[in-house]
Amino acid sequence: MDVAGNRLMVGGVCASSLVREYGSPLYAYDEGVIRMRFRELRDSIPFSKLRIYYACKANTNPHIMRVLREEGAFVDVLSPGEVFLAEKAGFTPDRMMFTSTGVTDDEMRFMIGKGIHVNCDSLSQLDRYGSLNRGGRVSVRINPDVGGGHHGHVITGGPDSKFGIYFDKVDEIKEIVGKHDLKLVGLHHHIGSGILEPEKFVMAMNVLLDVAKKFDNLEFVDFGGGIGIPYKPGQERIGLKELGSMIAETFTAFCRRYGKELMLFIEPGRYMVAESGFLLCTVNTVKETPKHRFVGVDTGFNHLVRPAMYGSYHEIVVADRVDSAGKEKVVVAGNICESGDVFTRDEHGPVDRELPKLREGDVLAILNTGAYGFSMSSNYNSRPRPAEVLVEDGKARVIRKREDLNYLGYGY
Ligand SMILES: Cc1ncc(COP(=O)(O)O)c(C=O)c1O
Repeated sequence: MDVAGNRLMVGGVCASSLVREYGSPLYAYDEGVIRMRFRELRDSIPFSKLRIYYACKANTNPHIMRVLREEGAFVDVLSPGEVFLAEKAGFTPDRMMFTSTGVTDDEMRFMIGKGIHVNCDSLSQLDRYGSLNRGGRVSVRINPDVGGGHHGHVITGGPDSKFGIYFDKVDEIKEIVGKHDLKLVGLHHHIGSGILEPEKFVMAMNVLLDVAKKFDNLEFVDFGGGIGIPYKPGQERIGLKELGSMIAETFTAFCRRYGKELMLFIEPGRYMVAESGFLLCTVNTVKETPKHRFVGVDTGFNHLVRPAMYGSYHEIVVADRVDSAGKEKVVVAGNICESGDVFTRDEHGPVDRELPKLREGDVLAILNTGAYGFSMSSNYNSRPRPAEVLVEDGKARVIRKREDLNYLGYGY
């Protein structure tokens, strides 16, 4: 967190001045953080044939994606909508990979028509893909029987997960590949999101590589995303260097046994963008119950759903008084008509947080909201979404306009 004169700064610009200029609530992103995290990740994996696919579901704003494209990222897409936005960010189809679930034939036709690589999530999808694109190049997503993540909802490996083809279905995969004369050029897995233990990644990697040795003619193995960031004060950052070395060593040893140097793909989303984002909002209510002092703000789970959905922790600071002697315990509540709409909570309900004494008009910043913040937002309660601004080289500019009532749809 960048603080000057006790004020929160976003990319060198004072956060509360952004609210004065662009209104509240507001998503603000620091472009420098995105570049820094990308480079850090790239440099942590000493393997020459490395590709980093940005999982753009984390943040689909084309201006954010453009920053990652400039850094050399490829892009992981899961819908025609994401392809549309990735194209706006300047990604060409040869730099995209489509991995989704519950995939329709129309979606596959769309990807095949554009020349986007398709990664199949089920045996039936692989079979349908073969009918649509006989002789085509394809890869499959494997469920390696290992999962991890910050919450049950985002663990995507293991028997409770709907994703991928179970690792023991090698014969079935081969049969479908043979039936349609497909070229199986890659294997993929993604075991979950928000993982902070390097060993989890390596454990799953070994399962996938065990599967990989049963296929000839592979060109790549994709180990998915899922790298977590420290959301809570005191939480340790993942040892990226340690993780990167383990990945590179494990894969190099595999390639030696396989007899060919394959390409190594990863597809992180959160790691590159989470810490770049701030949801800025304004206090408009202070009230008390016998149990809590509630501080109400002008945003809610329609704009940031992670606390309500997963009980996720997001640090909150007062933009113009980051540090203050007089603190009080409060619950920061959103403006959506549901009791679950509080930002300081766990999976069970509100949790008091110590913050500087708050008054109406104070600007708060909810930190680490660059990933799965705006991209998971909605118009619930028929409220338009905030503007997004990107701060580059010390200058802020709007990268998505504040919605007005016309965004609520129905053609009015
Ligand atoms: C297939 C796939 N790849 C990559 C990711 C990115 O995960 P993360 O943002 O945790 O890195 C996801 C997230 O859900 C995913 O489903």
